[in-house]
Amino acid sequence: TQHRLDLSTVTEEMDGQDVIFRCRLHHVRNMGAKLVFLIFRQQISTIQGVLVEEPGKVSAIMIHWAEHLRTGNIMLVKGVLQKPQIPVKSASIHNVEVKVTGLHIVVKRAEPVPFSVQEAELTILDDDQKVDGRQSQIPDRVRLANRIMDLRTATSQSIFRIQAAVGNLFRTCLDEQGFVEIHTPKLQGAATESGASVFKVNYFGRPAFLAQSPQLAKQMAIASDFERVYEIGAVFRAENSNTHRHLTEYTGLDLEMAIEENYHEMMDIIDHTLKDIFKGIYTKYRKEVEFVKEQFPSEDLVWLDETPRIPFKDAVQLLTDSGWLNEDGEPISPFEDLATRDEIRLGELMKEKYKTDYYILDKFPRSARPFYTMPDPNDDRYTNSFDVFVRGQEIISGGQRIHESKMLEDNMRMVGIDPDDMADYMEGFKWGAPPHAGCGVGLERIVMLILKLGNIRLASLFHRDPKSFPA
Ligand code: ATP
Ligand code: AMO
Repeated sequence: TQHRLDLSTVTEEMDGQDVIFRCRLHHVRNMGAKLVFLIFRQQISTIQGVLVEEPGKVSAIMIHWAEHLRTGNIMLVKGVLQKPQIPVKSASIHNVEVKVTGLHIVVKRAEPVPFSVQEAELTILDDDQKVDGRQSQIPDRVRLANRIMDLRTATSQSIFRIQAAVGNLFRTCLDEQGFVEIHTPKLQGAATESGASVFKVNYFGRPAFLAQSPQLAKQMAIASDFERVYEIGAVFRAENSNTHRHLTEYTGLDLEMAIEENYHEMMDIIDHTLKDIFKGIYTKYRKEVEFVKEQFPSEDLVWLDETPRIPFKDAVQLLTDSGWLNEDGEPISPFEDLATRDEIRLGELMKEKYKTDYYILDKFPRSARPFYTMPDPNDDRYTNSFDVFVRGQEIISGGQRIHESKMLEDNMRMVGIDPDDMADYMEGFKWGAPPHAGCGVGLERIVMLILKLGNIRLASLFHRDPKSFPA
């Protein structure tokens, strides 16, 4: 078989080289009888092709045929790389074009499409077609309803390469620090975090639930002496949350580890892991980041060598001192969780004060945390737990867990959970579990916030939310 060119490897130095490659036809520019420009696309790489009438080689009939090709067809192109007369603005490869000598349709696009990839991108059209700073005139709703077309855009291709990189960087970073990857069951006998937000399924006539986090299983792995574990897996939430940042099924990046003295050992690990992820994306995935920015304008995320770690009650004080009130016109309580609007305001204040988009709020109030959270030994209205924020929104929850069975039972009863309903989980603590801590990141959430997409659905390949469910 002939070697097929990967367009992402094309450089100016390849001028004069014979090439053959498969691609999608992205755009056709009719230039009159003797000449046609074709834009060919492989994922995020586009190159201009020129087809010029040449006696004995390229006929007027072939030019006419090419002018009427449908965009979206899969094509086989043969040609020679050459320097374009003027740099090509309309393709991602600017200083090389392909002089086409052969052109074949491999797969015909049979049906009309709801919108073309080019319309969804619009980046190669005029700047004055920008809408609200966004360059696509196709609304998210239409794009998401025709996901396969939308996923073909350079923007979506880039978002999902970045999403894959986040997962890979998380995995690599933890592997290097002695963590073991685990795969925990998604079919469960009991609810994980609370009873309210689980999907119930029929398990051979008995009720079962889809896991709303790997929380119980990852703690059971620690009780089983794995010391350090992580999981990348599906998480199901039966919450009727119709927001820009909630899905009913998302991908959780979770870790759990035994600690020596303090849960901040775990906070240090996740802090460094996140910074490795940020660094990796803004260096190795710079090209993809720039493609996303063309449609979703954003500044690069700003983070500091020393991540600010602010006690929750100090953050509430910062809000109060700025004159901020909650939705009912009252000062924010230091004993309740923040609402989304409070978080976003806090993000602005933190950016002003610390010049960072990335920080940690520590010592959350007890009322805002699940039963397994270790109370703060110095003030039991608070806990040894934290949330991590990016651009003013939560990306991570985590903290120290209660590892003493009596204390855990008491805490469960206090919130109305019968420890007998979680007998397997409780055994781990009765049989002796080390002090431990852990946390969970939402993959789609972190990608949405790093890239400032404004809508979590755009960071989910085929999203699941309360309203949209495919037939
Ligand atoms: P965690 O589960 O750790 O709290 P999360 O980011 O999923 O993480 P939620 O507690 O589900 O957060 O919600 C946090 C905030 O999101 C709430 O305080 C609320 O402001 C907002 N929120 C959640 N659900 C809705 C909804 N249906 N409509 C509007 N806002 C919502
Ligand atoms: P929590 O419920 O805060 O914590 O979830 C952890 C992280 O998961 C993401 N997330 C979501 N992403 C999309 N759609 C949702 N509906 C959604 N809900 C949560 C967020 C959030 O920060 N067991 C604990 C973690 C731990 O303590 O280890 C837990 O699940 O990014």
